[in-house]
Amino acid sequence: MKKVLITGCDGQLGRALNQLLTDSPVEIINTDLDTLDICNLEQVFALVRKERPDTIINCAAYTAVDKCETEIAYAIRVNALGPKTLAVAAKETGAQLVQISTDYVFDGTSGKAYVETDAPHPLCMYGSTKLNGEKAVMETIDNYYIIRTAWLYGDGNNFVKTMLRLAKERDTISVVNDQIGSPTSALELARMILHIVDSKEYGIYHGTCEGAASWYEFAKAIFSIANANVNLIPVTSEEYTAAIAKRPAYSVLENAKLNSQGTYRMKHWEDALKEYMENNVTIHSCE
Ligand SMILES: NC(=O)c1ccc[n+]([C@@H]2O[C@H](COP(=O)([O-])OP(=O)(O)OC[C@H]3O[C@@H](n4cnc5c(N)ncnc54)[C@H](OP(=O)(O)O)[C@@H]3O)[C@@H](O)[C@H]2O)c1
Repeated sequence: MKKVLITGCDGQLGRALNQLLTDSPVEIINTDLDTLDICNLEQVFALVRKERPDTIINCAAYTAVDKCETEIAYAIRVNALGPKTLAVAAKETGAQLVQISTDYVFDGTSGKAYVETDAPHPLCMYGSTKLNGEKAVMETIDNYYIIRTAWLYGDGNNFVKTMLRLAKERDTISVVNDQIGSPTSALELARMILHIVDSKEYGIYHGTCEGAASWYEFAKAIFSIANANVNLIPVTSEEYTAAIAKRPAYSVLENAKLNSQGTYRMKHWEDALKEYMENNVTIHSCE
């Protein structure tokens, strides 16, 4: 990869990629909504034709899962039509495309970790629009990497930061214990992307940190690393009424394609969390 166009560069993954690519020989064209709206056909074609990147990494998305339930047209635009536009532009100029997707394309009812070939069946609009983004890419070009990730945290608003903030504000925190997934550090995902991007082993990948946890277990690990003294209460999804969108109960992803290649294994989620909290978040003891 010599020249890469990054969309959504101000998001968690975009920033993590920048952290790794700065000081590398790769030429980066960083764009976000204010400079390149991936839904704007004219803008996309003008930039891709001018810059002719050899790789486009689409980190742009509408990631507000609950808002996607009501802002459906906007979610379709950003999560499905945006990737389609990028794919058409990539095809015209010969660029390869990295499209990021989600564990929420699955319904979470199988009770075992999903591999890349399992049939998707999203429960919510976010998952459904992201799945349509996958399909749009696959029907447009051949040289794509679709990477499904999950429960991402990095430089941005995320669960880790929310928990640390709540720990300062409250004595007791209730967290859902019946949704199991793969908490994944954006930096670790960025490492995985940069590892596979020159492989030409195109297709769908699962890219999540190894292991699995409920949101409650994830929170417990966060407070343990932070030495935070919090009364953490496990609750069911039914008891937690703030969520609007239906989430999968068990959406653990197995990195089957990546691990079968045997050249890169993503960190266990607890190790990646420690790395993140030791390096990225200001941890205030809550005792
Ligand atoms: N976050 C998660 O837990 C999670 C889980 C599974 C999969 N993923 C996927 O992983 C990828 C990266 O997620 P992330 O957490 O890094 O996302 P993020 O932090 O929400 O960043 C997304 C970026 O895209 C920008 N953007 C939104 N609409 C755009 C448009 N039309 N054109 C260009 N840029 C636009 C956003 O700008 P504004 O902030 O101004 O809107 C933001 O800077 C996404 O594909 C997401 O669906 C994320």
